[in-house]
This record gives sequence, structure tokens and C-alpha cells, in this order.
Amino acid sequence: MNSNFKSLSQDLESVIFSEAEIDSMLDRLAKEITERYRESVLERKFVLVSVLKGSFIFIADLVRKLDLPCEVFFLRTSSYGSSTVSSGTVNVEGFPDADKLKNADVLLVEDILDSGRTLYKLSEIFRTIGAHSVRICTMLDKPARRVVPIEVDFKGFEVEDQFLVGFGLDYNEIYRNLPYIAVLKKEIYS
Ligand code: IMP
Ligand code: MG
Repeated sequence: MNSNFKSLSQDLESVIFSEAEIDSMLDRLAKEITERYRESVLERKFVLVSVLKGSFIFIADLVRKLDLPCEVFFLRTSSYGSSTVSSGTVNVEGFPDADKLKNADVLLVEDILDSGRTLYKLSEIFRTIGAHSVRICTMLDKPARRVVPIEVDFKGFEVEDQFLVGFGLDYNEIYRNLPYIAVLKKEIYS
């Protein structure tokens, strides 16, 4: 436990996206997604798949702004542990029942796209089990860090190569509950 705790904000360098900026980004994304799937929901199931834990706040806010019939699934991936650098291998837990996804339009919802390995692997799995389409929605994109090719369909904000926390993003499981997105002080993780 941290016996010097006063406020989570004492560990932050700066806030890069405020609550208000995030809310208008969510409005824009929800509009884009609603437009894109408006016709296809007449024929096929629309399924959002949230990649836990990081996207739990993003997807909760996003789905409440979607005016579409949709199902929501959750799965869990991990590749970081307590480091700030991806380990390179991606573990998937709690994969949804494949029958529920066959011929569905699947939208993978991520907190942040970094190396791209997580979404690359997930897209491949969803295509293999027979989804009709697999698209990607990410709250944040760090293109400078990409090591595998990934096409992003819906993007919140593009960010620099720096370690971010808040709005679901953690360092060592902490800071997810910050209502905004911030840069973590380097001394916290180095
Ligand atoms: P990728 O497979 O390297 O694209 O990993 C993406 C995952 O890494 C995200 O879902 C996050 O869990 C984690 N991640 C990447 N960058 C950050 C960051 O700046 N803050 C917190 N988590 C991050
Ligand atoms: Mg994640």
C-alpha cells in the first residue's frame, strides 16, 4: 500500500484528454458506427467485443450512445504484466461461444492500439470462426509503436509514444478509474 497517498493526480505529468474532450470523441465515434452498421443490422447480428480490462469504461460509454440493436461480449487478453512494454505474446481468456459469432458483424473494441499484436491476433481468430466482418474500434492509437499491420476502422484519438493512464488504462492495475486520460510521471514506472 502507498502510505503517502493524497490524490491519484500526484502521479500524473499532464492531462492530455479531458472528460469533455472524451465525451465529444465518443459522440463522434458513436455516430460513425451507427452510420456504418445501420443497414447491415437489418440482415445480420451486430456484436461488439470488448477487450478487457482496459476497454471497460470506453465500451460502457460508447454503447450507450449507439442507436442500434447490438450484443456485447467481453474477453480478456494480457501481454504486459507489470511492465510498460508488451511482452510480445498475447493470451486470450473467456472467448465467446463461436456459434454466437458465426456470420455476425463483429466490432472489436480496444482501449489503445500499441504494437497491434493483440488486435491482429483477435481479428484472425474472429475471421477463422466465420464472422461476416471484423472491424476495429480503438479509443487511442499509438501508430509509432506498431509492429504488425492493422487497419483501424474507428479511432478516438491518435497519441504520441508515451505511457498513458485513465479512462480504463492502467499501470500495474491502478489509475483505471481516472475520468480523463493522462501521462504518467516517468518516476512511477522507472
Ligand atoms: P498491443 O498488442 O501492443 O497493441 O497492446 C495493446 C494493449 O497494451 C492495450 O490494450 C493496453 O492494455 C496496453 N497498453 C499499450 N499502451 C498503453 C499505455 O500507454 N497505457 C496503458 N496500457 C497500454
Ligand atoms: Mg487492453
